[in-house]
Amino acid sequence: MALQDEIKKRRTFGIISHPDAGKTTLTEKLLLFGGAIQVAGAIKSKKASRHATSDFMEIEKQRGISVATSVMGFEYRNTKVNLLDTPGHKDFCEDTYRTLTAVDSVVMVIDSTKGVEAQTEKLLEVCRMRNTPIMTFMNKLDREGMDPIELLDNVEDKLGLAVCPLSWPIGMGKTFQGVYSLYEKSIVLFKAGADKQSKLGEVVRISDLADPVLDERIGQFAADKLREDIELVTGVYPEFNKNDYLAGTITPVFFGSAVNNFGVRELLDCFIDIAPNPRPRDTTEGPVAPDNPKFSGFIFKIHANIDPKHRDRIAFLRICSGTFERNKKYIHVRSGKVYRSNNPTAFMAQAKEVIDTAYPGDIIGLHDTGELRIGDTITDGDKFSFKGIPSFSPEIFKVVVNEDPMKTKQLDKGLLQLCEEGVAQLFIRTDGSRKIIGTVGALQFEVIQYRLEHEYGAKCRFEPLGFVKACWVTSEDSNALDIFIKSRPTQIARDTESRTVYLAETRWSLDREIAEHPEITFHTTSD
Ligand code: G4P
Repeated sequence: MALQDEIKKRRTFGIISHPDAGKTTLTEKLLLFGGAIQVAGAIKSKKASRHATSDFMEIEKQRGISVATSVMGFEYRNTKVNLLDTPGHKDFCEDTYRTLTAVDSVVMVIDSTKGVEAQTEKLLEVCRMRNTPIMTFMNKLDREGMDPIELLDNVEDKLGLAVCPLSWPIGMGKTFQGVYSLYEKSIVLFKAGADKQSKLGEVVRISDLADPVLDERIGQFAADKLREDIELVTGVYPEFNKNDYLAGTITPVFFGSAVNNFGVRELLDCFIDIAPNPRPRDTTEGPVAPDNPKFSGFIFKIHANIDPKHRDRIAFLRICSGTFERNKKYIHVRSGKVYRSNNPTAFMAQAKEVIDTAYPGDIIGLHDTGELRIGDTITDGDKFSFKGIPSFSPEIFKVVVNEDPMKTKQLDKGLLQLCEEGVAQLFIRTDGSRKIIGTVGALQFEVIQYRLEHEYGAKCRFEPLGFVKACWVTSEDSNALDIFIKSRPTQIARDTESRTVYLAETRWSLDREIAEHPEITFHTTSD
């Protein structure tokens, strides 16, 4: 197949949600549609065990599964869908953010009983940086939740994102009867207690809402209410415009119940129709189009093998242009060295397989012995680097205390390597050179401690620090920046690339500094 056709065939996306909104359940139903798994529960098992445990090692035991579910590929309607996992819960970390730099669009799952929650807001900020197109799935309609209009208002108010409902619920909770698809002009009927694995609700095509079939099927009261709702909805919300969705300014909204596999097919069908295929990506030398015949891609995640006997790692590469070929000699741009992979793997649902070729939008796993870093670009000879794979502003900070002074070198090396791998960020305080680890999720400290001990033979403990956010600071006025830095010695640090970072003690103090120092830019990513 020609490169153009391969590109058109691909949809690479991630699901964002707050924990417990239903991301895992929706993932599973999507995989069922794609025939990638045969029974519900295959993905769930990962989560069930996670719930029962609280420490890092138990999560690590699941590591084999979590590598396999990092990327889940499946075919649906002659389309190759790549679903990238965005870790949540306890393993929420920078990888979660960075994965969003490797997708072309996202599906946002919202628990309709709760509305927009904190983690969704954070993840949406990252989507906004690249104007990522977003589809929304309002989940758990089988439970009494917020009024649909209230939910849509909630998205507009909290996320600043315009909405366009493409389906509309008929009732909710105990009275939930199904959805009316504004996209397909049909109602899909919900049967409570129906086989949760069955793939489809009953679809009734309705070209005209005045059709008395509607009253027959859902009752006159619900039918009248639906007619009223749809009149309101079509009057209040704009008609769906694909270009606005692709520009990331409006989100089409679907209602359903993932656990009941309800509304999922409608979401997936629309996703296949409208979600973008791989798009051009920014590099240091301008945008690179996916149909550029020369291969290029970047590393957005590195998965270490926790077994010290096998120190190899898997680097996840997103292909951005051209055709990737096994055993072909490429260039690792940062080092200038030749890069060749003889066993690149692709991920199809839970199976990994060695592949010979891969195309833009695909994610491949490269075995790595330590030469690759997050953000690295690999090309077919070109010297550019992909932009927009930054470090994200951490929110939890601890000082590293060396517990074994004989192993200082090992500790320093281990910290640096783990941070290069993207486990956490390392900062050095300018007043007294204390090492600070910054993360976006709490689990990372356990990961670091464990890996330092088992992989580098170094022991450390952490002391909490009272900072809530790190911002990279820059200014065109170098004098002003100098004064700012010098007058806050306890709050200034450098990252591993020697960039200056301001550590804020409270949100309020950060806001105040931003307001009082318009000459200084406070960046929440390192880009
Ligand atoms: P997450 O990955 O976003 O964290 O959420 P997950 O899919 O694990 O779902 C969280 C809980 O919400 C699960 O219940 C799941 O069954 C439930 N859930 C998902 N979709 C729906 C829905 O449409 N309706 C209702 N009522 N519940 C839904 P749990 O009790 O935590 O786990 P489980 O014992 O059911 O597996």
